[in-house]
Amino acid sequence: LRSALRRSAAASYMSIRAFASPPGQQRKVAILGAAGGIGQPLSLLMKLNPMVSHLSLYDIAGTPGVAADVSHINTRSEVKGYAGEDQLGAALEGSDLVIIPAGVPRKPGMTRDDLFEINAGIVKSLCEAIAKYCPNALVNMISNPVNSTVPIAAEVFKSKGVYDERRLFGVTTLDVVRARTFYAGKANVNVADVSVPVIGGHAGITILPLFSQATPSANLSSDEITALTKRTQDGGTEVVEAKAGKGSATLSMAYAGALFADACLKGLNGVPDVVECSFVQSTVTELPFFASKVKLGKNGVEEVLGFGPLSDYEQQGLEALKTELKSSIEKGVKWHANSK
Ligand code: NAI
Repeated sequence: LRSALRRSAAASYMSIRAFASPPGQQRKVAILGAAGGIGQPLSLLMKLNPMVSHLSLYDIAGTPGVAADVSHINTRSEVKGYAGEDQLGAALEGSDLVIIPAGVPRKPGMTRDDLFEINAGIVKSLCEAIAKYCPNALVNMISNPVNSTVPIAAEVFKSKGVYDERRLFGVTTLDVVRARTFYAGKANVNVADVSVPVIGGHAGITILPLFSQATPSANLSSDEITALTKRTQDGGTEVVEAKAGKGSATLSMAYAGALFADACLKGLNGVPDVVECSFVQSTVTELPFFASKVKLGKNGVEEVLGFGPLSDYEQQGLEALKTELKSSIEKGVKWHANSK
């Protein structure tokens, strides 16, 4: 009996602990598109993040169910679901970080650019609301085509007088996640130890993994490097084709999105030396936006880092990607100018 009592005392202690917020920074994270293929597992993963105190789940529909479900998990954050445009302001108010996986995904045969028209409009209206309700939040843009939606977001924020280039990020972490996984397989090293920077943008040849800088280093042939590069660039298409009409990467993207959001929150909380690749406003090349390693801090981007020495193959890849990336950026800027 005594041991049964001890067990029940321990159980009630655990449940009290689970519902009491531990001391620490209050951080509100909003996910826009939270009921979608990426949004749901991303909501789950953000519920597991101990830095989050308030988790706000917004979508045009379906979020009350997702929020009720996720809210039963006994971690720190308080979860609220918001559905429909009239609840968007309340969903955003007070947010430190807004993650945007809202929009339509690819089907087989589509490029990310085929999503442009629909997603551009969605991103514009969501960013207008961010400008109004939480202009100081960091924004993690997942909606494709990232090479154009990030410039659109920047234009929206500029037009509302709240643009701060340190707070706007295109999420390219899935490219890094894939590069690490594929490299570890080929180089036969422990994937947990692998680091590979990925620069450029987030579509086809604009995705440029720098395997010459990968660690732990391995003696891969140039054919192997070419194959790894192409597989990283086509990783999204590999998933789109395997899903055969049922969308694009959602689970691995949710993981990657959670990883990047975690890095942003660590930066906000003053954790030193947080570095991740991201598509941001940049002077690293002549292009106004470019993905490279970024140091994260209390205001978002603390420093955009250069990409270091490139192999001849990577140098060619860099020159080749610039034309496409430039036109995707310009397409976003022009679309915004014509959308007023
Ligand atoms: P999905 O169709 O499963 O979910 C999208 C969600 O957005 C839906 O729940 C929908 O109701 C919601 N939504 C639509 N309009 C909205 C609005 N105005 N406000 C709020 N929510 C809205 O699509 P999935 O698979 O989750 O993909 C979402 C986006 O992420 C797509 O654009 C896709 O291309 C992109 N993506 C980006 C990746 C990256 O590496 N950055 C990787 C994979 C996908």
